[in-house]
Amino acid sequence: MQSTQVAIIGAGPSGLLLGQLLSRAGIHNVILEQRSDEHVLARVRAGILEQGTVDLLEEAGVADRLHQEGLVHDGIYIAFNGERQHIALSSLTGGRSVTVYGQTEITRDLMAARAAAGLSTHYEAAGVALHDFESGGKPWVSYLRNGKPEVLHCDYIAGCDGFHGVSRHSIAPDAFKTFERTYPFGWLGVLADTPPVAPELVYAQHPRGFALCSMRSRTRSRCYIQCCLTDSLNQWSDELFWAELRMRLDPVSAAALQPAVALEKSIAPLRSFVAEPMRFGRLFLAGDAAHIVPPTGAKGLNLAASDVRYLAQGLIEHYREHSSIALNHYSARALQRVWRAERFSWAMTRLLHSFPDQGSFDHRLQQAELDYLFSSTAAQTSLAENYVGLALDA
Ligand code: FAD
Ligand code: PHB
Repeated sequence: MQSTQVAIIGAGPSGLLLGQLLSRAGIHNVILEQRSDEHVLARVRAGILEQGTVDLLEEAGVADRLHQEGLVHDGIYIAFNGERQHIALSSLTGGRSVTVYGQTEITRDLMAARAAAGLSTHYEAAGVALHDFESGGKPWVSYLRNGKPEVLHCDYIAGCDGFHGVSRHSIAPDAFKTFERTYPFGWLGVLADTPPVAPELVYAQHPRGFALCSMRSRTRSRCYIQCCLTDSLNQWSDELFWAELRMRLDPVSAAALQPAVALEKSIAPLRSFVAEPMRFGRLFLAGDAAHIVPPTGAKGLNLAASDVRYLAQGLIEHYREHSSIALNHYSARALQRVWRAERFSWAMTRLLHSFPDQGSFDHRLQQAELDYLFSSTAAQTSLAENYVGLALDA
């Protein structure tokens, strides 16, 4: 039988970052993760960090490599109708920018910091189950480690276990509301050692579907194309992927594209989802466990980071000052930011994808909206201020 102050479920970016912030404040925590550390590190996901996320990683003491290797971007391109429009994020937002640094690298840095500090992470924890978090007493977590039953007693549980995790599914269905939209397409993503087509990300709207040219470094690209939900990876050879991507880009980006062997290839469905509230007695949900955004706005990881910031502040205030004010405000504070990011991610998705059920009127509206974006500084400013991240409250 073990005990800790905060039991954290999940060693994705939310769980690892929360653990790091709490440990630096002297709050004991144990992370239970169902997969192996190699599996967690093999997942290729987010790549764009808002300034607030970079600041939080600095506060957590894990930003050295990020500052050495991350690429600071002052703009993005939107391609439509054969043209590529630059959206000058920094000059439109009073100097704010985004940083390109892979989620995998953040995870690696956080895992290394945790290992260096000798903190407990139990990988391959099977059958994690949450108990007594709404009873008024102290909660506990049961799981299997190397096939043997274990129990972890704690003051609080942080459910950082992603959309399919056990935490949200442990809550009585009538204790929360969910809001959801699924989209009739997915993203096929390829990682390859080939230089990016442009110095900054290119988001493309095309009658054949959305495309995105992102990157992980000056020599490594991460590219996506909108695909059917029924597509399977073996339908998409590397050659087909690059040919399809090229067709969807503007001529300048297409000319710069240099196909290369795919190091990784995956299909992700797109979803908008929010669970409200994000606190249930002594259980707090954070990150993808509570909400999902379609990746078009690059907000998922950044939202996970802002949840963790609010939750860490609440727990630190609770243990240091015996005050529960910030913990009591956690859910409302996090959800305000969540809904703003949900709106932006949905709007970017609608603006840039081809919807199979789109009629000719909707199609013309989409074109008019892109036309407006290309010609209006006000429209570009609105996109820019959402993309770089709405300012965090203190
Ligand atoms: P997760 O990363 O899902 O981590 C949850 C962890 O919990 C996992 O390790 C899982 O194994 C573990 N777990 C699950 N169930 C259990 C259980 N029962 N017991 C114990 N452990 C469990 N976001 C951005 O901000 N910018 C981007 O550019 C961006 N691009 C993206 C591109 C793609 C293709 C995708 C799919 C996502 C993208 N995102 C982006 C979203 C971002 O990756 C997620 O929002 C982020 O991973 C959320 O982190 P998390 O720690 O909350 O959840
Ligand atoms: C990525 O680099 O993986 C990425 C970038 C921007 C997005 C989504 C994903 O909007």
